[in-house]
Amino acid sequence: AAEIADQLTEVLVTEEEIRAKLDELARRVEADYEGKELLLVGVLKGAVMVMADFARALKRDVEMDWMAVSSYGAGTKSSGVVQIRKDLDTDISGKHVLIVEDIIDSGLTLSWLLENFALRGAASIEVLALLRKPEAAKVEIDSRYVGFDIPVEFVVGYGLDFAEKYRNLRDVAVLAPHVYS
Ligand code: PRP
Ligand code: MN
Ligand code: MG
Repeated sequence: AAEIADQLTEVLVTEEEIRAKLDELARRVEADYEGKELLLVGVLKGAVMVMADFARALKRDVEMDWMAVSSYGAGTKSSGVVQIRKDLDTDISGKHVLIVEDIIDSGLTLSWLLENFALRGAASIEVLALLRKPEAAKVEIDSRYVGFDIPVEFVVGYGLDFAEKYRNLRDVAVLAPHVYS
């Protein structure tokens, strides 16, 4: 529980920038889904903050559900082999689904999820991700709503963790190397 500022090197995206971007994305989503029912699916646990703020930025009704997945393997990052820890409570067949994520890093988690959801017969499936690391992509994800493209750095905050910590930061910040090396 040392001083949090000593564990970060810089703020990449501020709380204010996140709020403004989510408002902008909310207006686009409202227009794109006009006249349609919409189900938001948050991917636990990283998407908790984005889901909470994005859903409240929308001036329309939505259904909300959650999916918890974990990828396992030798490395510390996504192996692409994903295990469902908590499945949806909702039958998504015939529904317009918008998957809400905090970040697209390698893209492997979303790639797996998109394939999995496609098999369930949704009417449409789109992705909203607050952050994306284009230079880290191992697989291209067709994400209709992206907040910010960021460099390949170890970012935490606003849902993103390192060893389950830092999710509660209001900004997205770069973790100081001395914390994880
Ligand atoms: C993180 C993040 C995304 C995923 C992105 O989740 O929240 O879901 O990794 O990485 P990828 O594009 O390389 O697959 P994580 O598996 O750390 O679980 P968490 O959301 O519970 O932190
Ligand atoms: Mn996640
Ligand atoms: Mg994580």
